Amino acid sequence: MAENIYPIFDQTLTRQDKETLLKQRAIVVWMAGLSGSGKSTLAKGLERELHAQGFLTELLDGDNLRSGINNNLGFSEADRLENIRRSAETAKLFLQAGMVTICSLISPTEEVRQIARNIIGEADFFEVYVNAPFEVCAQRDVKGLYKKALNGEIKNFTGLDAPFEAPANPDLEIRTDQEDYSTSLHKLINTLLPRIKPNN
Ligand code: ADX
Repeated sequence: MAENIYPIFDQTLTRQDKETLLKQRAIVVWMAGLSGSGKSTLAKGLERELHAQGFLTELLDGDNLRSGINNNLGFSEADRLENIRRSAETAKLFLQAGMVTICSLISPTEEVRQIARNIIGEADFFEVYVNAPFEVCAQRDVKGLYKKALNGEIKNFTGLDAPFEAPANPDLEIRTDQEDYSTSLHKLINTLLPRIKPNN
């Protein structure tokens, strides 16, 4: 492993130093769900609202990460696992910097979500399941990907010929097919605010 490497973890400013400066408590909000379920839309709304309330945030979105740090990865099982591992390690850096870090990735299996949870740590990992049935996502088809996948033009498409396992025990589930955007967003914000605001 890390031979000839001398980490200085114990000599750097702490996360708490940064949280005190920022007047907030850091967390990773991990939003999982099918493509088109509303993850990115809710993540963007959440970030804007928290920013407006004076919190420092970072939004890590699957499609964005895949155009940079993860741009050599595809959608095989192994690549998705690596995608989640790198994304979680990236999220952890922002967490250590005291930021409210919002991750929006399909995160299709229990295995990959467990990897993310282990990297970030149970206490700082808040899992949100953005739930809309496959048929609803396919109907919305904002990016036109479901049409392509159903025509056989995209292989390993989540929910079609690649698995999606619904999170068994998320910290919060949002049914975007049953409630409107503003209801969902407020539910998310109201659940998170007590966890983010400083104790004193
Ligand atoms: S994950 O499965 O590895 O967590 P991630 O969230 O990074 O996925 O990327 C999903 C995005 O990639 C989708 O929103 C969609 O725009 C795009 N995409 C391209 N091909 C696929 C595919 N085969 N399955 C799912 N999403 C795909």
